[in-house]
Amino acid sequence: MPELLISHHPVIHNKLAQLRAQDTPPAVFRKLVHELSFLLGVEATQDLATREVQVQTPLQRCNAQILAESIAIVPILRAGLGMSVGLSGLLPDAPVRHLGMYRDEETLQPVAYYSNIPAGQCEDLVLLVDPMLATGGSALMAIEQIKRWQPKRIKFLALLAAPEGVAALHDAHPDVAIHLCVLDEKLSQKGYILPGLGDAGDRIFNT
Ligand code: PRP
Ligand code: URA
Repeated sequence: MPELLISHHPVIHNKLAQLRAQDTPPAVFRKLVHELSFLLGVEATQDLATREVQVQTPLQRCNAQILAESIAIVPILRAGLGMSVGLSGLLPDAPVRHLGMYRDEETLQPVAYYSNIPAGQCEDLVLLVDPMLATGGSALMAIEQIKRWQPKRIKFLALLAAPEGVAALHDAHPDVAIHLCVLDEKLSQKGYILPGLGDAGDRIFNT
């Protein structure tokens, strides 16, 4: 069964309200994207494997759990960069491997312009991050590229999604779990998420 996990956390929803508001300035918007990504990252990593190690505290030795899976953070440029900041705060040892894509404004098809996914070296878990899942075209193209790299599993993290994008991802890649802060109502005729927050990349980078 394809997994769709939507946050019910009150702090996440409080920050989302601020993120959506049209008068939220870019500096605040950017900070909210970082904070929401950190919080969503906590929810999306609850099932990570751990292994036991021994730690010497100032008082005595004890057993402790550390992460047993290697993890890569893969942001889809540009807007995904905002999320990778939050995710890197949560997982400071995870490499960040970028994919560059933009959506053609007429066709809404993704155009790939950059990849630094290395050949032949792969972490166990890829956290693919992009704040917006609209038609799903960009995420689908990214997942196809990532699957050639053969990670054991992929999770896709977005702040907002349209049902159309979730359906497209689930149809093509039922093995990829989707983690969202919120599932919105629909896509506009121009391919924007409604009610959404507008253009995430433009609001993060003040362009
Ligand atoms: C936005 C967003 C996603 C994509 C989602 O990027 O960050 O990558 O659109 O739309 P889709 O699901 O229909 O593919 P955009 O193309 O605006 O590029 P940017 O991040 O550089 O602003
Ligand atoms: N990309 C965005 O930044 N916003 C949308 O609503 C859809 C795609």
